[in-house]
Amino acid sequence: MSSETRQWTPAHGAPYRPVAYRPARMPSAQSLARAAELRTRMDERRTVRHFSPDPVPEQVIRDAIACAATAPSGAHQQPWTFVRVKDPAVREQIRAAAEQEEQLSYDGRLGDEWLAALRPLGTDAVKIHLTDAPALLVVFQQRYWLGPDGTKRKHYYVDESVGIAVGMLLTALHLSGLAALIHTPSPMRFLSHVLRRPENEKAFAVVPIGYPAEDCEVPDLLRKSLDQVMTEV
Ligand SMILES: Cc1cc2nc3c(=O)[nH]c(=O)nc-3n(C[C@H](O)[C@H](O)[C@H](O)COP(=O)(O)O)c2cc1C
Repeated sequence: MSSETRQWTPAHGAPYRPVAYRPARMPSAQSLARAAELRTRMDERRTVRHFSPDPVPEQVIRDAIACAATAPSGAHQQPWTFVRVKDPAVREQIRAAAEQEEQLSYDGRLGDEWLAALRPLGTDAVKIHLTDAPALLVVFQQRYWLGPDGTKRKHYYVDESVGIAVGMLLTALHLSGLAALIHTPSPMRFLSHVLRRPENEKAFAVVPIGYPAEDCEVPDLLRKSLDQVMTEV
């Protein structure tokens, strides 16, 4: 059965049932070559804020979401929902609400230190990508499990789990040839209301997706070197 039709249900309290896991081991030469290639490919990823109007293949987005949903999660609770926003009227609503919040933020709510941190990125309160990127996802985290009868059950390590899943989403989109932006309008409560999400879900990030515009520019950023991010003991 394909993963698009099989339905997961919580295994809360079920006994441990191991199954064999015997993936073929990759020869080291292939492993080294693949790691080096991935390193180069991933270094090419950039956050894009100016998108081409060209449509993107819907299946690439579905496959990228399916990749994200393979992420590890605390107690395998998979506390994520990916909302694909297609209705232009809903996208207009999201943009209007986001720009209202962002205007307040850029007008001083963020504080001088945060504004200074953002200055090199050249961002402002105008969020054209919310209506103009060819595809838009909103990722929600499920703060707790909510059963059909209203039963609630705690979810563990929700921020970490959803953060990893979104990282995998970005990786899948990038390696499939699409660009994306992680946009976190603050506060994001309006998204639950506009997208009519259940009470257990909290917005995590808005993700416009597409191809970079022909005249796309990105800030000139330098990534930390390996020595700066890694240490050995
Ligand atoms: C958690 C998170 C929140 C972010 N929020 C925003 C945002 O609200 N608006 C924006 O333009 N970029 C946002 N970004 C994108 C970052 O600014 C961007 O990743 C960073 O400047 C590095 O650029 P790069 O992705 O091109 O390497 C966010 C990124 C992350 C991981």
